[in-house]
Amino acid sequence: MMRARKRSRNFIPVISAVALLLAVALPLEAGRAEGADQPETVCIQCHGSLPDQLGAPVKLWRNSIHADNGISCNSCHGGDPKNAAVAMNPSHGFIGAPGEDEVPAFCGRCHPGVLKDYLASAHGRALGKGGPNCVTCHSNHEVMKASLNLINEKSCSRCHSFERARVIRAAMQQTESHIVGISGRIAGFRAMGVDTERLDKGLFAVRNSFHSLFHEVHVERVRAESTKINAELGKLDRDLKVIEDAHARRKVAGAIAVSFMLLMALLFHLLRKTCK
Ligand code: HEC
Ligand code: HEC
Ligand code: HEC
Ligand code: HEC
Ligand code: HEC
Repeated sequence: MMRARKRSRNFIPVISAVALLLAVALPLEAGRAEGADQPETVCIQCHGSLPDQLGAPVKLWRNSIHADNGISCNSCHGGDPKNAAVAMNPSHGFIGAPGEDEVPAFCGRCHPGVLKDYLASAHGRALGKGGPNCVTCHSNHEVMKASLNLINEKSCSRCHSFERARVIRAAMQQTESHIVGISGRIAGFRAMGVDTERLDKGLFAVRNSFHSLFHEVHVERVRAESTKINAELGKLDRDLKVIEDAHARRKVAGAIAVSFMLLMALLFHLLRKTCK
């Protein structure tokens, strides 16, 4: 009796501490969820009310993968997002809009791997001499999640024939569907409670090396790398097959065990009947 009362008294401070923590943490959490994607800044407020090409970026940006990931006007253009009076002052870090030749370095601050591949490619070497920069293919403010759909006749035959692009797209498309297929099978096992950590890691690595392939725009490299990547995917295929077979065996074993038990129950029942 005494002990129980003592214990419940000990709970009172614990419960109030938890309640206090929740009271403090919950609004913080809500605030963060709201602020994470698109916090209002003076850049958005002022540009949102400006006409034409000064206002257009705000609308376009709101749909972008950058807005979804908290990359705002000032993340790209610099400046002070809190103080309208000095927002676009270079002494507050404002770097303005890049010229055409400056775009790759401008975007590459946050995408250094892509920048490196791009600069070494035929496209990078033709920068300022008719080659495409990041914005040519991805746009400036309405940047979307990248996919192979960006390789299409309309976009890629603006400057040269589509033939080499078609070869690159076909090779990559095939690998992409292989990756999507394996990813679906792994997800199926994960849903069944199988430990898929090793498979997830394997697929993650393959997917990364695959998606870093495009910017070199090199037909032979894409062919060679696709062969290598498909070999890696083949290994994952085999690992998955082993798990699938084991599951099938376990199912058969389970069915046998259940039938055996039913049989035993029946025998037991009959025995009891005959013994009576
Ligand atoms: C009070 C209104 C106002 C605020 C606040 C403001 N801008 Fe501007 N911005 C303008 C106007 C007007 C122009 C066009 C005239 C000029 O370039 O000064 C402009 C031009 C720009 C340009 C084009 C510059 C160029 O080189 O062509 C960029 C980029 C830009 N703003 C980004 C920002 C960013 C980022 C912020 C916040 C850190 C911001 N602006 C805050 C009004 C504003
Ligand atoms: C992902 C980086 C990125 C973000 C985020 C971004 N911009 Fe830009 N912005 C650019 C680039 C690159 C250019 C250069 C335009 C070009 O080459 O097409 C540019 C150009 C501009 C210009 C000049 C437009 C013109 O046609 O003269 C303005 C104004 C501008 N941005 C305002 C904004 C505002 C306002 C925001 C936030 C709503 C914003 N930008 C967010 C990359 C960005
Ligand atoms: C201040 C950092 C920053 C700058 C500058 C920046 N980005 Fe991004 N970008 C990000 C982040 C963060 C993401 C979302 C996370 C991710 O997918 O890497 C992203 C995502 C992307 C994606 C989608 C990637 C995917 O997984 O499909 C593309 C494409 C992209 N950015 C292109 C650009 C282009 C083009 C520019 C220049 C106009 C640019 N970025 C400038 C930070 C930046
Ligand atoms: C000729 C068109 C083209 C140019 C130029 C270009 N990209 Fe891409 N980018 C693509 C395509 C196509 C993909 C999709 C590749 C894929 O799905 O594997 C992509 C994918 C991406 C991704 C996602 C990569 C990933 O790992 O998922 C980012 C980030 C990106 N580009 C940023 C940039 C930046 C930064 C530049 C400039 C330095 C640039 N791109 C130049 C067409 C282009
Ligand atoms: C703004 C112009 C422009 C656009 C748009 C463009 N390219 Fe290119 N591309 C060039 C130039 C310039 C070269 C170098 C000269 C040449 O080989 O034709 C080149 C070369 C190439 C090469 C040959 C590379 C090599 O090393 O031999 C491939 C492949 C290629 N581009 C694919 C694409 C794809 C895919 C797209 C669309 C996503 C695309 N290009 C969009 C201008 C462009």
